Amino acid sequence: MGERAGRQAMDYTRADFPADFRFGVATSSYQIEGARFGGCGPSHWDTFAATPGNTARGEDGATACDHYHRWAEDLDLVGRAGFDCYRFSISWARVLPEGAGQANAEGLDFYDRLVDGMLERGLKPFATLYHWDLPAALADLGGWRNRDIAHWFADYAELVGRRLGDRLAATVPVNEPWCVAWLSHFLGEHAPGLRDIRATARAMHHVLLAHGRAISAMRALGMRNLGLITNFEYAAPADESAEARAAARLYDAIYNRWFIEGVFKKSYPQEVLAGLAPHMPDGYEDDFDTIATPVDWVGINYYTRKLIAPDGTGQFPALKEVEGSLPKTLMDWEIHPEGLSFFIRRVNREYAKGLPIYVTENGMASPDRLVDGSVADPDRIEFLNRHLAEARRTIDDGVPLKGYFIWSLLDNYEWALGYEKRFGLVHVDFDTLARTPKASWHALRAALTAG
Ligand code: FCB
Repeated sequence: MGERAGRQAMDYTRADFPADFRFGVATSSYQIEGARFGGCGPSHWDTFAATPGNTARGEDGATACDHYHRWAEDLDLVGRAGFDCYRFSISWARVLPEGAGQANAEGLDFYDRLVDGMLERGLKPFATLYHWDLPAALADLGGWRNRDIAHWFADYAELVGRRLGDRLAATVPVNEPWCVAWLSHFLGEHAPGLRDIRATARAMHHVLLAHGRAISAMRALGMRNLGLITNFEYAAPADESAEARAAARLYDAIYNRWFIEGVFKKSYPQEVLAGLAPHMPDGYEDDFDTIATPVDWVGINYYTRKLIAPDGTGQFPALKEVEGSLPKTLMDWEIHPEGLSFFIRRVNREYAKGLPIYVTENGMASPDRLVDGSVADPDRIEFLNRHLAEARRTIDDGVPLKGYFIWSLLDNYEWALGYEKRFGLVHVDFDTLARTPKASWHALRAALTAG
């Protein structure tokens, strides 16, 4: 990778960023906690993974990194590296095993201890309420296809807000609406594994309705710093043809514009409605006032670009991904740091218009191995350097970028791809569950604690 491959240090220290710029790491509940512990209810990820063929080697999050028991050690790793913030998620199924009704006291106590543990270590808690572990009982009722999910979710948000809201530095209802809706209901790659356009259209809308209802519920409790996090992929045409350019624009509209335009412009992109309109819930336009409930900041999750071409079928969305020529991560994702600054600028210019922006996820998977007690991951250090360089440029241009979170603290359960895709700054041995900080963790620690 790159001419600087092999470097062991970060190009930046904290002093190269504004004094109020925050550095953090991110994780999510199902990917690290261990869903079999502590009275957590079944989620649709448990049932999806229990169905043959859905996940690599049939792997699931039953044990994951056993963060449920090792959380104190994990928070120490965040604090010792010099991070300011920790982005984590709360499992709906752990808090409400049936999705609604009776709360699991053990689950709420767990998050209570976890948040206090962050504060004790000087870490600002950035909470996500939904990072994909939908209670199976609600999946039985149609999950994101059912409009009622908006009030189930608002009730859950209120419960969490009452218990933790006084100590959270920032809260976001949903991680990556595109994955919740399109990836899971159209492409069928994530739970519930559907490939159905009507289910997709409903999920695309209900996920935003649920977001808006949750924001209102938390605002009513007096909670502050409520945000929206969407994921973005830089969509480039596979060639110069008008057809490829149109396909890339449609990909961009589905992936990068639908959700944020719903929230900031009270509309959906026309080219997407051209395919989804017949399948949308009746009267969906009446929900835009709720969807557009004001937020205080916007989070950008960014990993890669995609080359897009027409697929020749003529059937919406009639596009396909084409293999690109840039160096790739273990996910087979092209490394394209310029896309990060493109989206930070676009979000500021078109949508957030001066609201604080955070990069809430960025990072890479690599085949990291423990050799003689240490893990060399020069590609990750290089990846982070190149993306931080792009982030820096947007700050120089005057964009109010306020922080950058790395995905992820630990090697963890990478959803349908199982445990082999290692994104962590800290290596996890999935037999012993031992944690070993990688070279990237040490490099970041040097950069963040310098001076
Ligand atoms: C994001 C997810 C996160 C992780 C990374 C690699 O889309 O939010 O859980 O899987 O990708």
